[in-house]
Amino acid sequence: MLIYLGCSAVAAFALAVGLTVAGAPPAAVAHAAFALGAMPLIFAAMGHFVPVLTRSAGVEPAIHRLPLAMQAAGALVVAVLAGVVPGWGLHPAILVGLVATGLMLGWTFRRGRACLGKPHAGLAWYKASLACLLVALVAILAGLLWPAGYAALRLAHLHLNTLGFIGLAAVGTLHVLMPTALGMPDPQAALRLRKQLPWAVGGVAASALAGLAHWLAPVGALVLAGVVIHTLAGWVKTFGARRIIKDGAGVALFGAGLGLLTVIATGFVHGLGGMLGRPAVTGFFALFLLPLVTGALSQLLPVWRFPGPATPPRAQLRAALVRFGALRTALFLTGGGLLTAGITAGALLLAAGVALFAGVLVKGLAGARSAG
Ligand code: HEM
Ligand code: HEM
Repeated sequence: MLIYLGCSAVAAFALAVGLTVAGAPPAAVAHAAFALGAMPLIFAAMGHFVPVLTRSAGVEPAIHRLPLAMQAAGALVVAVLAGVVPGWGLHPAILVGLVATGLMLGWTFRRGRACLGKPHAGLAWYKASLACLLVALVAILAGLLWPAGYAALRLAHLHLNTLGFIGLAAVGTLHVLMPTALGMPDPQAALRLRKQLPWAVGGVAASALAGLAHWLAPVGALVLAGVVIHTLAGWVKTFGARRIIKDGAGVALFGAGLGLLTVIATGFVHGLGGMLGRPAVTGFFALFLLPLVTGALSQLLPVWRFPGPATPPRAQLRAALVRFGALRTALFLTGGGLLTAGITAGALLLAAGVALFAGVLVKGLAGARSAG
């Protein structure tokens, strides 16, 4: 299931790049990448990490299948926004999304309560992330039912989903994933997670409400930038830049952090009316999601494919997936930078990076199949 969802996410990213080239409406492109691609994968990753963070048994079947419900909801949203399905299709998609998110959130609370001792600090980030998605879905539903409030509610929806749902889940996971990728403990990670969370949630809330009160835009952007800089600086201090750059997964995860920082900087500018908001959507996808998801998958897929204790086939698959990690990250950051600046040729660099990852993915998984 996890491998299927990982491959589906890469396929959805390729679809998003394809839809851009075909000139589909931007909202359809955004939801191909975010709602069809990232949303189910985040649910799957939470199903994997919540038992780890709470030292409890593996995920139960009902929760394990929630990512499939999110994938169906995401596909329906893309179909509506691309004009293939009539507008009423949004309502069942929102309903499915709300129910699945509520179930996932309830599960994180139950697992937290059942944990012997204190759960890992990362769990609270997942709760906050899911709460953002819940509010974001309620916001867009309210906007559809109440046209006068649509503009402000749409802004709340998109900022809560990108910075809140995806951003909080990603940063919470990165603190755990980076030391795993580098094979070195990070004694400061739990403390950083605990200290940063109130700031991160405050920054997301300020950005989501900045459509109503513009002075909140620089506040939200500066607070969120502070959280990301604190994380990146913590990694450099603990692991050293050389170690991070030399590992194909580590460099991608660090690149994702740098990309997020750039996107927040564009949020600072567009929030004050200095540029359009749209390029930030492309930037969020190219500068942040692409390095994040490819970096995370190159670390996680080998564990999902060969669970249990470390084995040589797992190490081989990881070695295959992290190949070209630095080149991929450079392609995503350069291509994303060009696209954000309005230079469409940047899409070619993104396509090259996605193709490079799809190549090592297919080759690595085929090799893993023959390895058993
Ligand atoms: C069931 C899930 C979802 C539904 C039903 C939904 C619905 C919508 C709708 C109706 C719009 C307005 C489109 C327009 O004005 O043309 C919108 C905009 C947007 N949504 Fe969602 N959404 C969902 C999930 C997500 C997720 C998970 C994300 C990101 C993580 C997201 C990010 C955005 C963005 C960035 C926009 C603005 C797009 C643009 O105009 O370029 N949405 N959404
Ligand atoms: C800290 C970061 C951010 C802040 C403070 C911020 C703030 C704002 C504000 C205040 C507006 C309304 C502008 C107006 O009314 O003229 C806006 C619009 C917009 N933002 Fe952001 N934003 C941030 C990050 C992002 C991100 C990450 C995305 C991408 C997914 C994004 C996408 C958009 C879009 C698409 C619009 C315009 C929506 C439309 O078509 O009307 N923003 N932002």
